[in-house]
Amino acid sequence: MLLTQELSALVGRSFADEGFDPQLGAVRVSDRPDLAQFQCNGALVAAKAAKMNPRAVGEKIAARLKGEKIFADVSLAGPGFINLTLSDDALSARIGALGDDPRLGGWRAQSGETIVLDYGGPNVAKPLHVGHLRSAIIGECLKRLFRFVGFEVFGDIHLGDWGLPMGQLITELKREQPGLAYFDPANEGPFASASPVSLEDLERLYPKASAACKEDAARAGEARQATAELQAGRAGYRALWKHFIDISRAGIEREYADLGVTFDWWKGEADVDPLISPMVEKLRAAGVAVEDAGAVVIHVARDDDKKEYPPLILYKSDGGVMYGTTDLATIVDRVESVDPDRMLYVVDGRQRDHFEQVFRASDIAGIYPKEKLEHLWFGTMNGKDGKPFKTRAGGVLKLRDLIDMVQERAAERLKESGFADGYGKSEADDVARRIGLAALKFADLSNPRTSDYVFDLDRFIAFEGKTGPYLHYASVRVRSVLNKAEAAGAGAPGPVALTEKEERDLALILLQFGDAVKDAAEKRLPHYLCDHAFTLAQAFSKFYAACRIVDEADAARRASRLSLARAAGRQLDLVLDLLGMPAPEKM
Ligand code: ARG
Repeated sequence: MLLTQELSALVGRSFADEGFDPQLGAVRVSDRPDLAQFQCNGALVAAKAAKMNPRAVGEKIAARLKGEKIFADVSLAGPGFINLTLSDDALSARIGALGDDPRLGGWRAQSGETIVLDYGGPNVAKPLHVGHLRSAIIGECLKRLFRFVGFEVFGDIHLGDWGLPMGQLITELKREQPGLAYFDPANEGPFASASPVSLEDLERLYPKASAACKEDAARAGEARQATAELQAGRAGYRALWKHFIDISRAGIEREYADLGVTFDWWKGEADVDPLISPMVEKLRAAGVAVEDAGAVVIHVARDDDKKEYPPLILYKSDGGVMYGTTDLATIVDRVESVDPDRMLYVVDGRQRDHFEQVFRASDIAGIYPKEKLEHLWFGTMNGKDGKPFKTRAGGVLKLRDLIDMVQERAAERLKESGFADGYGKSEADDVARRIGLAALKFADLSNPRTSDYVFDLDRFIAFEGKTGPYLHYASVRVRSVLNKAEAAGAGAPGPVALTEKEERDLALILLQFGDAVKDAAEKRLPHYLCDHAFTLAQAFSKFYAACRIVDEADAARRASRLSLARAAGRQLDLVLDLLGMPAPEKM
């Protein structure tokens, strides 16, 4: 149980004994740590409802709590706030238990849920760009966090492999190599197993194709036609498309691996293609899907809408399917395969209207209820000019180039700081890789998910301040203290007995980990974990500055401090793991 829950239950009993609602006993960490560790504001609410004097109510509750051994101090402040401070014995016992807990005090959800988590969302043949970064980083963190709290999670990349870009690629390649067997409409295959294009070809062909289609209506028409034929099953196009996917996927896998991001499912939009026509037939028969100007749509607008929600288009008038069609069929697929308790989408905030449409359609169609569908949208990573981050030349920055840039800067920083002195090349590279990743990920995750933030590499990569590298440095330092203790024969960690302010402060932070996990998981907001990691690292650093550990003369005190340090190190490493940014062994 979380310490705040334990205290809330205890204080709640006093409220109940005085004839009030026990819920009023809710305890939280104090706003004024200089006055007390915890506070309860329930007396004010109780007094208001009972038309009593709040201080009088507070005094009654406080009088009851004063008898509890767990508290060193119970006092009233202001109009009736109850201030609570724990005894050192009570804190020490709880830190001892936390140190023995493999979850280091991490909260566990009451009931296990099955969740499908949709993140990543790259598109075949288009290089990953910074826009894909946030989805990958946030999605990976939420996946780890949900698993930690006891949920079963299926992470799905939901590859964009079925839309107009596929037709654009096909027609562009046809211009370059019209003689390929894939373009012969009469050819039913089989076709050569070797791909006619490389990843470089795709990366060259796609921008060319998309630019040409923008300028030339005839080319755009050809691409639409090819897309429809691909979707209708034309053999040569399907074979070619398969090559596009395989080639592209190899590159995509490598980039996510470099980010430390993995998926359980590598499904694509195309995988649900066979489900589309039966789904639409059913919805038509039920009168949910209707014909509208040659297209087949689901109307999703409501009378009380403040803005306009156009209908969700299932089939365009040319028979082609849309982004919303595959998203709806994907819900059908997920219900059929794992019937999850929830489906969560980690996708850019600019797609909010799209998901509102899809979720409404799913609800209206009786496919899956809207309240179990959540769009966990995120803000934009901007440049210093406040506009979406671009390259110096003004283009969209490829993810590959961004990762390389961060890695290079991390290696430089490491050299400047002397942290990697005496390392072999591969070891130094590994440390630089981890630190670069931590800089990037922590900068992203530490902002509230829905906020925009400014990309500022020098700030992200600094070893001082609220940064990923600072946390890595803290983790390595704890480890080195423990190693030093072992080498010096300082004895084993032992029973915790807190006496100093810095020890108490660190203990209190360690005991708040559960609240951070709970908040982050329930609100789907990773920055609560980041805040905790940073506060923990700072508290450790103050403790380390104020208290002798390895060279403490008193053996019992030394053993207690070693336990405290070990718990801090383990908890920090656990949070870093949940954030998807494991620290190096040493630096
Ligand atoms: N491929 C899409 C894009 O690049 C993102 C997919 C997000 N997931 C989803 N189920 N729609 O915008």
